[in-house]
Amino acid sequence: MCGIMGYVGPRPASPIILQGLRRLEYRGYDSAGVAVANQGAIEVRKAAGKLDRLTALLEETSPEGQLGIGHTRWATHGAPTDFNAHPHSDPSESFAIVHNGIIENYFELREELLRSGASFSSETDTEVLVHLIAAEYDGDLAEAVRRAVARASGAYALVAMTAHEPDTLVAVRMISPMVIGFGDGETFVASGIPALLDHTRRVIVMEDGEMVTITPQGIRMEKLDGTPIEREQTEIDWDVEQAEKGGYPHFMLKEIFEQPRVVADSLLGRLSGTDVTLEDVGWDTGFEESLEKIWITACGTAFHAGLAGKEVFEGLLRIPTEAVYAHELRYRDPIVAPNSMTLAISQSGETADTLAGARLLQERGSRLVAITNVVGSALTHYSDDVVYTRAGLEISVASTKAYTAMLIAQYLLALKLGRSRGLLDDGAAREVATALEALPEQVESLLKREEGIDEMSRFLAGQLADKDDIYFIGRGLDYAVATEGSLKLKEISYLHSEAMPAGELKHGTLALVTEGTPVIVVNTQQHVYDKTVSALQEVKARGASVIAVAYDDDTEIEHYTDHVLRIPRTMDLLSPVLSIVPLQLLAYHVADARGLEIDQPRNLAKSVTVE
Ligand code: M6R
Repeated sequence: MCGIMGYVGPRPASPIILQGLRRLEYRGYDSAGVAVANQGAIEVRKAAGKLDRLTALLEETSPEGQLGIGHTRWATHGAPTDFNAHPHSDPSESFAIVHNGIIENYFELREELLRSGASFSSETDTEVLVHLIAAEYDGDLAEAVRRAVARASGAYALVAMTAHEPDTLVAVRMISPMVIGFGDGETFVASGIPALLDHTRRVIVMEDGEMVTITPQGIRMEKLDGTPIEREQTEIDWDVEQAEKGGYPHFMLKEIFEQPRVVADSLLGRLSGTDVTLEDVGWDTGFEESLEKIWITACGTAFHAGLAGKEVFEGLLRIPTEAVYAHELRYRDPIVAPNSMTLAISQSGETADTLAGARLLQERGSRLVAITNVVGSALTHYSDDVVYTRAGLEISVASTKAYTAMLIAQYLLALKLGRSRGLLDDGAAREVATALEALPEQVESLLKREEGIDEMSRFLAGQLADKDDIYFIGRGLDYAVATEGSLKLKEISYLHSEAMPAGELKHGTLALVTEGTPVIVVNTQQHVYDKTVSALQEVKARGASVIAVAYDDDTEIEHYTDHVLRIPRTMDLLSPVLSIVPLQLLAYHVADARGLEIDQPRNLAKSVTVE
């Protein structure tokens, strides 16, 4: 989820690219750079840190030239450093590219290039592409790019340039977004519409598997197999703020709708059959064999993802797992037996409590594995292993897509451990892997249903918006999801909400349930389905208004509930990835119905870096 901007035309390219990158800063900002063609050479300026550092560099010496590319990075491979910043060049410095996304087979490509004598100056997957393009070049940049990307797999978008063709850019889109903008005698390319709006409103949005050759006079558009494409330009009437939100009214809603992509990216290149490859996990089989206990520590939404993880590690692998709030853990005196592993989960990787809790367990001998969304964050500095969640920059304070990505990271870890330690037989592993692979499509279909989950949750939100107290219940994994559904609702709607295991109601909270009290139940776990139904009957008997989250094919649930939010059927173990979606939408629409500031709720910060 990086930002890309390219320009070719009569004006100096650097300032235009920089301005475009500013408009894309909301997509990522851990490093930035530009490459400009100047008198038969390519000049590159790049720097780790926010765009201001690049701006300062360009103020010192700005490369001259009317064709260039730029990038603002949200790292997925390699720490946010100067040398990992884009653009990347080939050793002859005659080619440069910027790239967004993930090259799934970069490791094999890199090994192959190393064997043939190549050397690399970064840790990124991008650099292999520029090497391939340079190697394939025989006087036609578009053909070189076509041949190079034919060897790459993954989800990505890129723009390439060469000093040999100083009026040509070549852009490819393979799932990651890319859009072309048309001015008078000048052409732009960017990963998002906001970057173009200062210059033009006439655009063409590229589709997957397309390649565009860009010159000042216009473009040639074709499929990667060479089939020409004719497409009309469209006129954009969004303002910049609308464009940054992709046309959604709030970042939170945009991020909820990004989840199919996030789930797909989180799996990309990591799951092959039942084999799991996690690039920054380096433990050996001896460690896996001896592992006796898993600790999970985190705060807030990340902790709720960890609660689900506990159910997964114990249920699937039978490895004792303890999930502890990091702010509690750090002031305890935990008994850490040898052969344990700690999963520290944190979107930002900077949460002070999580860092302290994780460090404490590590100091007592537990192997520390970070699950985080931010490459190079503080948590990664002292972790033994890292699983990056690949959710992309999350802007809304209320975390949504990062949560689902944390779930996927834990499923992958469980599958990896289960396979290598022989805790999962072939059949069980295949069932999990197949169900995991189906998830991106299922989340997508859930969000896209006509008159579906979004409309239904908006309708129900209207009924909840003036309530005082809302209860969430579930059992096992459903309880884990209920905790997150409740947090989402309270943090942005300011309504009081509480989550509890369904069986706990009758031990006290049932006294608060009266006529019309909203109770939201998640009921997907078949082994406790009837038990949760009993709890529903208890609240119904007191007049509660019950909303359920249940599978599409569950015909029984309607007998005990007023409304049902339906999700596609999956194996129960994976249901949190689907069942959380209607609850995120419900929270969003309740806050919206109450006219609240959704992306920045009062009193809360995106990242809590102090105690
Ligand atoms: O960056 P982290 O995941 O460590 O943040 C932990 C919590 O502060 C965070 O999950 C918070 O609860 C969410 N913003 C709530 O949506």
